[in-house]
Amino acid sequence: MMTIDPAKSIPAFYAGQSIFLTGATGFLGKVFIEKVLRSCPDVREIFLLIRPAKGLDVNQRFEKMLNLPLFDKLREERPSSFKKVIPISGNVSEKMLGLSDEDKQMLIDRVTIIIHGAASVKFNDSLKYAILNNIRSTRDICILAQNMKNIVALVYVSTAFTNVNKPFVEEKVYSPIVNWKKMIDMAESLDEHTLNVFMAKFLDYAPNTYIFSKNLAESTIQEYSFSLPCAIVRPSIVTSSIREPFPGWIDNYYGPIGLYIGGGKGVIRVGYLDRSCHNNIVPVDIVIKAMLVVCWKLGLTTFTKGSNLFVLNCVNEKRTTHEYDIDMCVRLSDEIPLEGTVWNQRIIYTTNFTLFYILTMLLHVPPAILIDWVLRCSGRRPMAIRLVRLLYVVNCVTYYFSSNNWEYSNINKSFLTSLIPPEEQKMFSFDYSAYDIKKYFKNSIIGGKKFLLHEDLNQLDEARVRRQRVHLFSTVMENIIFFGMLWIIYKWIFL
Ligand SMILES: NC(=O)c1ccc[n+]([C@@H]2O[C@H](COP(=O)([O-])OP(=O)(O)OC[C@H]3O[C@@H](n4cnc5c(N)ncnc54)[C@H](OP(=O)(O)O)[C@@H]3O)[C@@H](O)[C@H]2O)c1
Repeated sequence: MMTIDPAKSIPAFYAGQSIFLTGATGFLGKVFIEKVLRSCPDVREIFLLIRPAKGLDVNQRFEKMLNLPLFDKLREERPSSFKKVIPISGNVSEKMLGLSDEDKQMLIDRVTIIIHGAASVKFNDSLKYAILNNIRSTRDICILAQNMKNIVALVYVSTAFTNVNKPFVEEKVYSPIVNWKKMIDMAESLDEHTLNVFMAKFLDYAPNTYIFSKNLAESTIQEYSFSLPCAIVRPSIVTSSIREPFPGWIDNYYGPIGLYIGGGKGVIRVGYLDRSCHNNIVPVDIVIKAMLVVCWKLGLTTFTKGSNLFVLNCVNEKRTTHEYDIDMCVRLSDEIPLEGTVWNQRIIYTTNFTLFYILTMLLHVPPAILIDWVLRCSGRRPMAIRLVRLLYVVNCVTYYFSSNNWEYSNINKSFLTSLIPPEEQKMFSFDYSAYDIKKYFKNSIIGGKKFLLHEDLNQLDEARVRRQRVHLFSTVMENIIFFGMLWIIYKWIFL
């Protein structure tokens, strides 16, 4: 059989490779598995590090994951490819990733590529947890990789926001906020309370513990890159798929889709963001293609000690403002209305925290108390106040990112996309600068309706009628409340 030169074909490079993926159950991880199995069918195997959760063991979680619609196309085209995926139990917040000795040895013997994507993405984790989960795990991945005789590439999934103090972010690792080794020592020896005292100091340099830990994890990778073939991929805000395996795949409410759903249903009335700032979103399948190409390039390059660490900013060059995106979503919500709207779609945006707080108290809290009261009376579990609290916290912790702008170098993107063989451009190119924003948003909304809300796309007319009725009702109610209050004030002052 004729073998194809891996330098001339990305699937040929992945043929026979054994990949170890962390973060496999996450948004990016699942799309990565699907793409590799579909586009690189001769990959030898993919080991997935999974932790038991929500009463499910590792195998149950794995089975449940493979039943997602994301894998429908693959199930149809290559059902046997699932046999190449091997779940193994681990927990990256534990020392040496919580791997058993047998699993560790198996990985050391067989793995040739590591993709480290596992991280806690919560912005408000305790400093101790963020360090152990996001920094120490990265160190332990590197230690594991050093024992692997056949390792050709280690790709770390970072974020475009690790250097928030740089208005222009180059494709390099900057000096860390503090020494990562000292931070691991501190997290291992100090209790949570004492560490939280230090948190105030470190958070002068990073907006939250997530960014702090991702910044230090990059330094960890840089240090090990002297002895390992490493690369860093930095995505901005990752959103639904643009093309693969189909447009609109999404499995979380982060970013614009959460705002669209909350606003479209009439639940969110207040937003804390700067409408003139840029919204830097990148589709999930674009990020995965970028990771695969980075890994291919790294694997083809002969590693010499002291080689430069390869960093890729994986961001959107055709950015739009929040204002533009919000207007587009409002227009699209007439075309693709959501079911079960409870109030009209009108969000007041502000950059003033006091006003945001007052508006939350006036527009979010009273309806939530009422809804919870109705739920309690009808024997159901109250949830509205909990939701309002969550919205408030999410708004506060994301404000930093929705009220600042950053520029990014894209030299490595241009360089890498030019290396992709012409006949594989369609399959692997992560240049999407020519995309149609409106079409992308429309598909994202359809994806949100289908995969997050499980709504029926054949019921759009019914949803539209309900939306019009709710709009009429809420407009009348708002006017009654407004003029009623004016009347009370008038009586109070003049009578
Ligand atoms: N999504 C974005 O907008 C975005 C943007 C920039 C960078 N990134 C980076 O991309 C990577 C993947 O993000 P994502 O969006 O896929 O996040 P996600 O959906 O929250 O997934 C996180 C993954 O990490 C795993 N994980 C977390 N803590 C773990 C632990 N202690 N042990 C084992 N597994 C653990 C999770 O497992 P469980 O299912 O068990 O929780 C999950 O598989 C992260 O490194 C993130 O920093 C994401």
